[in-house]
Amino acid sequence: MKLAVLSRNSKLYSTRRLIEAARDHGHSVRVLDPLRCYMRISSDGFAMHYKGVPMSGYHAVIPRIGASITRYGSAVLRQFELMGCYTPNPSDAVLRARDKLRCHQLLAAERIGLPVTVFGDNPDDTHDLLDMLGPPPHVIKLNEGTQGAGVMLTEKISASRGVIEALRGLYANFLVQEFIDEAKGADVRCFVVGGRVVAAMRRQAPKGDFRSNLHRGGTAKGVRASAAEQEVAVRAAQVLGLGIAGVDLIRSDRGPLVLEVNASPGLEGIEEASGVDVAGEIVRYVAQHVRRPTRQAGAPSLIRQVSRN
Ligand SMILES: Nc1ncnc2c1ncn2[C@@H]1O[C@H](COP(=O)(O)OP(=O)(O)OP(=O)(O)O)[C@@H](O)[C@H]1O
Ligand SMILES: [Mg+2]
Repeated sequence: MKLAVLSRNSKLYSTRRLIEAARDHGHSVRVLDPLRCYMRISSDGFAMHYKGVPMSGYHAVIPRIGASITRYGSAVLRQFELMGCYTPNPSDAVLRARDKLRCHQLLAAERIGLPVTVFGDNPDDTHDLLDMLGPPPHVIKLNEGTQGAGVMLTEKISASRGVIEALRGLYANFLVQEFIDEAKGADVRCFVVGGRVVAAMRRQAPKGDFRSNLHRGGTAKGVRASAAEQEVAVRAAQVLGLGIAGVDLIRSDRGPLVLEVNASPGLEGIEEASGVDVAGEIVRYVAQHVRRPTRQAGAPSLIRQVSRN
């Protein structure tokens, strides 16, 4: 197959590994910087160019779209879809996963376990909002936060109110959650490829912190996710429409709870901790779909719509 990896930097570990795995499996592969893809859209057809050269003939595209370019990156990805290219993670699914609030709403609607979460807009409602959540400790998260930055723990209701007030003053979007104490600063990243957990790692927060992000000094080691964890991870990816996902779970007394579903999960930590060739799993899955095209959520109707016009 002719594969494109949408990534801003071909030197990143995850991008390099995907290239390596694609070549090892005998595919032709190219890294495309999404910000250098540009397009002409009209009712009589589409064209996409890359650095001055028309682009066509890609069978599949793997998006690795960073949070800072979500909007443009997903538009480029959508263009690939409209031009008939297969992607394991369609643009709509990437957008669903990127918005923490939307993601939580969709998962909760499917009865997938999550920490109880509240959000609200008006300062006059803060008192009742926190009543709806229950007593502290609370975890307050910026919607746009990543790698643990923007995740705060408040032990007292006055602290929760103070942080909320400060965030409102900064016009930041945030949500507030119950604190899962029994997780003891650990979470489990399940790497889902095509409806299967292919690798998992447990991350442990450093002493004195409750955030297990590796960027915050957390440590990772490979684990075998339990059957319940695998089921939750696979269902979460499915609900959002992601063929490839990093699903972060926290172990609670009432079972695994989803913290986050990542649509461009990094490969370095998980390959190192688990010893699994995750890049190879991804390439095999994508190649299978290109050989045996399956209906992709969202894409076919758009393609039909376009060809009708
Ligand atoms: N409700 C909670 N109870 C206990 N610990 C939590 C809770 N929410 C988050 N944590 C801890 O804090 C870490 C960071 O939280 P989270 O993953 O939600 O934000 P992030 O890593 O900054 O954002 P993203 O994962 O979207 O990049 C988690 O990995 C987990 O260890
Ligand atoms: Mg996280």
